[in-house]
Amino acid sequence: MFKKILLIYHSIINYFNLIWYILQFSFMVENDLIIVYISSNILNEVEEKITFDDKTFSKHRDRLHLQESGKGQYLIAFLNKFPVGHVFIRWEGAEDSYVKTNIKNCPNIEDLFVNPKFRSLGIGSKLIDKCIKLAKEKGFFQIGLGVEVTNVMAAGLYSRFNFEEANINPYKDIWFGEDKKGSKTGPFSAKVKYYILGFH
Ligand SMILES: CC(C)(COP(=O)(O)OP(=O)(O)OC[C@H]1O[C@@H](n2cnc3c(N)ncnc32)[C@H](O)[C@@H]1OP(=O)(O)O)[C@@H](O)C(=O)NCCC(=O)NCCS
Repeated sequence: MFKKILLIYHSIINYFNLIWYILQFSFMVENDLIIVYISSNILNEVEEKITFDDKTFSKHRDRLHLQESGKGQYLIAFLNKFPVGHVFIRWEGAEDSYVKTNIKNCPNIEDLFVNPKFRSLGIGSKLIDKCIKLAKEKGFFQIGLGVEVTNVMAAGLYSRFNFEEANINPYKDIWFGEDKKGSKTGPFSAKVKYYILGFH
């Protein structure tokens, strides 16, 4: 009898804890998530707080320059004023020559990333939403992205948005970087599948 009461007590506590977490998460994501374009004012903070790989340290600065030259937009997500994620949208489409030859007029979503501590709160989805909105505003009818063939979780996220596998073969994506001291790094490579979302 005592065991039964204890079990019911724990079930009630767990239930309320669950509700509390859901409320807390939706409050954080709905009220305190701000997505801004990179700017020189926030570059240092972004480099300090969302650089997990020193070998590609220069990527935030490089994308600021690309944004300034009109080639794309680099979106930074701030949660409670703390930078937690980013995504770059490249208007000319993927840099890879195989994708470029086969897929036209398709802005490319690159390097979607959310700090591991803040995942599964809907931040990645909000960044994708924003890219879709920007592409539509610019008059595009589709948007695309390459996903590492092993990244099944990310592919799952994109399929929720109705991205579909493009009609091209998986390819080897190759990229280079620059570390904090300005030394070149790479080449890095990954086998990638390309996905496209068409707009209505
Ligand atoms: C992919 C990524 C940006 C998703 O960000 P997020 O803020 O967690 O995304 P959301 O909260 O909107 O959606 C989460 C969903 O994404 C999927 N997902 C993708 N990658 C995931 C990961 N590494 N861990 C957990 N969930 C992941 C899951 O389906 C998850 O669903 P769930 O919340 O029901 O568990 C983030 O996991 C990440 O930065 N991963 C490492 C970098 C990466 O793989 N980028 C994509 C390159 S194509």
